[in-house]
Amino acid sequence: MSVSPDHTPHTVSADGASGNLPRHVAFIMDGNGRWATARSLPRTEGHRQGLETLRSVIRHSGRVGIEVVTIYSFSSENWSRPEAEVSFLMGLLRRFVQRDLSELHKSNVRIRIIGNRADLEPGILALLNEAEDLTKENTGLNLVVAFNYGSRAEIVRAAQSLAEKVAKGELQAGDISETALTEAMDTAGLPDPDLIIRTSGEMRLSNFLLWQAAYSEFYFCDKNWPEFSEADFDKALACFGSRQRRYGGLDAKASL
Ligand code: FPP
Repeated sequence: MSVSPDHTPHTVSADGASGNLPRHVAFIMDGNGRWATARSLPRTEGHRQGLETLRSVIRHSGRVGIEVVTIYSFSSENWSRPEAEVSFLMGLLRRFVQRDLSELHKSNVRIRIIGNRADLEPGILALLNEAEDLTKENTGLNLVVAFNYGSRAEIVRAAQSLAEKVAKGELQAGDISETALTEAMDTAGLPDPDLIIRTSGEMRLSNFLLWQAAYSEFYFCDKNWPEFSEADFDKALACFGSRQRRYGGLDAKASL
């Protein structure tokens, strides 16, 4: 797959819709199983088709000039699914890295992985490390893959790392600030998501980016992930462009 490395942040989207473009869009790619079941297909077919949607979303993000795309690819709770489905998803991740990594690298995409790496199977861990290492100098679209990710666990790990510094005398308890915690998270150095898109009609965060989503805009799409199209993506971007973000303050007009 190829992603245009040429992106101009905060401009007009490819279809001509005006308004501000989000710097960072995060996706909860939901509804693969329902899409497949509705067609009397095995759930795994939904995941396979979901990977096609992911490819199209990455391409489109590069084209319109989004800087960061985060995908919730596998949550720490997803291990409780039937073994066959988990192993299919691991195979899909393997195929994604093996087939798409060199194209993504050529397109100047930088891959970052967030989530708990502690208990990952060595083969999977090696793949994720390879994707990050190969692309670490790239300057185009940032693709953040949330894998074995759970937001509460991420916050706990960040708190533990700060507590260890306090125990060693490297940090005072009073120095623990929002900035310090932000920098201890897996997402350190990334802007917070401006827009979080969830497909399939479900309206919840499901333990995704709880800390980082403090001021995110949410967009819920009724379509299941395998049928989420570039036009649907553009609709979400146009909707974002029309929103007023106040960060707890007032509109410029209202404050006069
Ligand atoms: C949620 O749909 C989707 C997932 C748990 C997996 C998402 C994976 C992909 C989109 C494929 C790309 C994957 C990788 C690893 C790069 P669901 O199965 O919960 O759907 P349901 O709610 O309809 O059952």
